[in-house]
Amino acid sequence: MCGIIGIVGRSSVQERLIDSLKRLEYRGYDSAGVAGVVDGHVQRRRAAGKIKALEDVLAADPLNATVGIGHTRWATHGGPSTKNAHPHTQGRVTLVHNGIIENYAELREMLKADGRTFESETDTEVIAGLIDSELASGKDPVAALKAALDQLSGAYAIGVLIDGEDELVMGARKGSPLVVGYGEGEMFIGSDALAVGPFTNRIAYLEEGDYVAIDHDKARIFDANGKPVKREMRTVAASAALVEKGNYRHFMEKEIHDQPEGCQRTIAAYVDTLAERAAIPGGVDFAALERIQIVACGTSYIAGLLGKYLIEQLADLPVDVEIASEFRYRDPALKPGTLAIGMSQSGETADTLAALRLCEAKGMTTAAVVNAQESTMAREVDVVWPIHCGPEIGVASTKAFTAQISVLTALAVAAARARGQIDAAEEQRLVRVLLGAPRLIAESINLEDAVKAVAVEIAKARDVLFLGRGPMYPLALEGALKLKEISYIHAEGYAAGELKHGPIALVDEKTPIVILAPFDSYFEKSASNMSEVMARGGQVVFITDPEGQQHAPAGARVVVTAPQSDPLIAPLVMAAPIQLLAYYVAVQKGADVDQPRNLAKSVTVE
Ligand code: F6R
Repeated sequence: MCGIIGIVGRSSVQERLIDSLKRLEYRGYDSAGVAGVVDGHVQRRRAAGKIKALEDVLAADPLNATVGIGHTRWATHGGPSTKNAHPHTQGRVTLVHNGIIENYAELREMLKADGRTFESETDTEVIAGLIDSELASGKDPVAALKAALDQLSGAYAIGVLIDGEDELVMGARKGSPLVVGYGEGEMFIGSDALAVGPFTNRIAYLEEGDYVAIDHDKARIFDANGKPVKREMRTVAASAALVEKGNYRHFMEKEIHDQPEGCQRTIAAYVDTLAERAAIPGGVDFAALERIQIVACGTSYIAGLLGKYLIEQLADLPVDVEIASEFRYRDPALKPGTLAIGMSQSGETADTLAALRLCEAKGMTTAAVVNAQESTMAREVDVVWPIHCGPEIGVASTKAFTAQISVLTALAVAAARARGQIDAAEEQRLVRVLLGAPRLIAESINLEDAVKAVAVEIAKARDVLFLGRGPMYPLALEGALKLKEISYIHAEGYAAGELKHGPIALVDEKTPIVILAPFDSYFEKSASNMSEVMARGGQVVFITDPEGQQHAPAGARVVVTAPQSDPLIAPLVMAAPIQLLAYYVAVQKGADVDQPRNLAKSVTVE
């Protein structure tokens, strides 16, 4: 969950380390630090809080180094303080780490028994201690690194500096990603392509268990057995411009507005626009499938739930959707004939990766709907279904969510046709509807001012309920998740039919109830629920479409009217109002929209 950068440069690295850490801030942001080799000796600068705090430290005490490492942290072991901030030093070794060392307590005791003392409460410091002990026993740096790695269990990506070595950065990965970047007379390591994006687009992805030593001109890569290996160098697109905020105040705001384009690009990759047919790459035979198993976390899980509604209804193909952290540990009954699909923006979520590996081990075909096309998940599965919405930086997922739904919608249409549930004419009609979605999403985003006005009221609430039926139920879950994570208001999403089974007890005049109800086959039922809520003094925010507005019972406090759409794409069209609602409530409350407390964009620990 933390971000790592390492540079063996020809010129000062301070600014470049900071630039890279800013790009990596989405991985964690409770403290940050850098280290560099100055006159043959390693020096560190660290600060609790955001990268800005580290910049202040560096302004007062610059790091005049051409070789260095940097880290932005999401705390696991030990609170977010300067003392726990990386890099950590033991003897000659200074390092940064992303992941969790599971046997750290045992290793710490062992190292303490050898007379070492520890400065921090982290699991990371033991890695430095181990490497330093191996150096002290006479090994060279690379051999010392390998000997230390052999003693670790858990997940890690690390970047290492050694005192006295002024042209060396070492790295290693197991469970957490690490890339090597090839520059002109300069070399880099980083958590992902984005980290090294401003310096080079020539990248090699380390594989599980690999470790590496970089100098000015080359990378020596070794596999887990210590055998020198070559990892393919690729040219990736991680252009600096893609991660600018432009004229927007926050990345989340920009990313909400990116959605028409992100969905358009994504849909274009999954339909044949000329033939007006769904065209799903990867050669999956939907007619032969008996079941689909979707595994995912958070917002990606909610996108998966929407997939269930779409695929089962259109294609009559059973779909199970499960939270990856539950699925991976509960011994699920996995049958041949099932396609496992992981949904993940980052492609690095530890639980989703583990769930897919479990499916793979059971002989299932695996697929992943991912945004990060160079991610571990994308590289491990049998079939990659990328979304094309561009890098998502705001911690709260928005454009990746609608792009994921776009893929699942196309997939539902393709599966329906393959399984004989719809004919060619209906497929054409549905594809045309899907191709029209970006325009309607754009219209939906134009509701911004109306939503802003609602947000002023919602910002005063302590609790908010989101209700929906059918595909609006997952969207209700997503509305509640978005609101909680960025505005810190307690919110719950419920299937509207569940109202009478408990949540109705929460209804009073202080609790806003957001009801999502386009004019679809569920509308009448949702309208009844709205009446029930209003009869008990509940303040309803009704998000509907023009026909729904005409048929809605009178008395809703606020009606937000999204564009009319075919039910196939209603989830895409109705997503923007709930995202904007969460966004403007958070802005109203002065919250840190792009980097909400305790969260990280890429959850690479379970
Ligand atoms: C919520 C959010 C998270 C992620 C979850 C899975 O806005 O962003 O709930 O959806 O951490 O992440 P990915 O999709 O990267 O696997």
